[in-house]
Amino acid sequence: MAAKTLKPDSIAAQALGWIDEPTRAVIPPIHVSTTYLRDPDNQYRSGRAYARADNPAFDQAEGVIAALEGGAQAALFASGMAAATAVFQALAPGDHVLAPQVMYWSLRNWLMSFATHWGLQVESIDMTDPAAVKAAIRPGKTRLVWVETPANPLWTVTDIAATAQSAHAAGALLAVDSTVATPSITRPIEHGADIVMHSATKYLNGHSDVIAGALIAARDDAFWQRVKSIRVQLGGTLGSFEAWLLLRGLRTVHLRVPRASQSAQRIAEHFDGHARIEAVHYPGLPGFAGHAVAARQMHGGFSGMLSLRVKGGEPAAVAVAAKIELWKRATSLGGTESLIEHRASVEGAGTPVPTDLLRLSVGLEDAGDLIDDLEQALRAASP
Ligand SMILES: Cc1ncc(COP(=O)(O)O)c(C=O)c1O
Repeated sequence: MAAKTLKPDSIAAQALGWIDEPTRAVIPPIHVSTTYLRDPDNQYRSGRAYARADNPAFDQAEGVIAALEGGAQAALFASGMAAATAVFQALAPGDHVLAPQVMYWSLRNWLMSFATHWGLQVESIDMTDPAAVKAAIRPGKTRLVWVETPANPLWTVTDIAATAQSAHAAGALLAVDSTVATPSITRPIEHGADIVMHSATKYLNGHSDVIAGALIAARDDAFWQRVKSIRVQLGGTLGSFEAWLLLRGLRTVHLRVPRASQSAQRIAEHFDGHARIEAVHYPGLPGFAGHAVAARQMHGGFSGMLSLRVKGGEPAAVAVAAKIELWKRATSLGGTESLIEHRASVEGAGTPVPTDLLRLSVGLEDAGDLIDDLEQALRAASP
């Protein structure tokens, strides 16, 4: 059956159903060659010359990711940061870009340091407010609007369709960091995004054992070709083994993400209004600011990411993390094991993250066990 008629679960489970023709293997080999044989007449009929540019190890994972996102093409990168920064580097010095006030901190730091130094005019706005987006766009000058939804670590939600409309009306592109939602929950291209970005380190791989990034283009156009050429020229190329592991992880993304989302929903509901918790940040809670938009553009769950603000400020939050037993005290997200971190400590001085906030990445353990562990940590850390 053609991939177009298959449901995403079928596409992912069989990794597009490809087999390795020479061996009839159902699972692809790991291609490690860095170079390819030139034909006697000096041509490269294989279409491949050198693995910084082309690697058969990427073909299948890129094909699966493009199919899951409903894009024209995908490109793997050495990390989520390599993928994200390639989009900005495909712009020209002097271009104006809009970025959210709440976003993945490392990318925000890069935008405010390297990218501005290099000549991009970066403006941070409240991306959850469509009126603020409209007002900030400068027709003819704004080339890119960057959205992250839900956004680290407050899980604020941006209306992708409304933002795409404002961006396109002014001739700008819309790029969406969809790392947290994943194509299992939201397919930004269906809502008007031009580029989708993933830290594939997170849910796409899903096992905390690969650093990788991916970009997906709605169209194969001149901008996309420029983005891809940046991967080749700057060398932010993924390793073959990592690409192979990523493909293995992708096969179960449609099982893992809904399961993590169900548990996150249960945990969020349990701690919403809890005597020791100041606030729960989770798009799946009806009282959460972005819930209505999230309910429109997120399907089958609201992701496995949530944050708890602990009563008693930073010392109380750090004490709860210290007393945790089942959750792992570590950064990152999207693995099978649940992670907890005092986010402000990770981001350091100048972070806008509230100091009483614990960021939780919900894994695949029993949700009751995860709740019990948080409850015992809250009791043990009680003043
Ligand atoms: C939402 C989001 N975008 C981008 C990145 C960067 O990805 P990587 O760590 O794979 O470079 C991360 C990493 O935590 C992230 O959480």
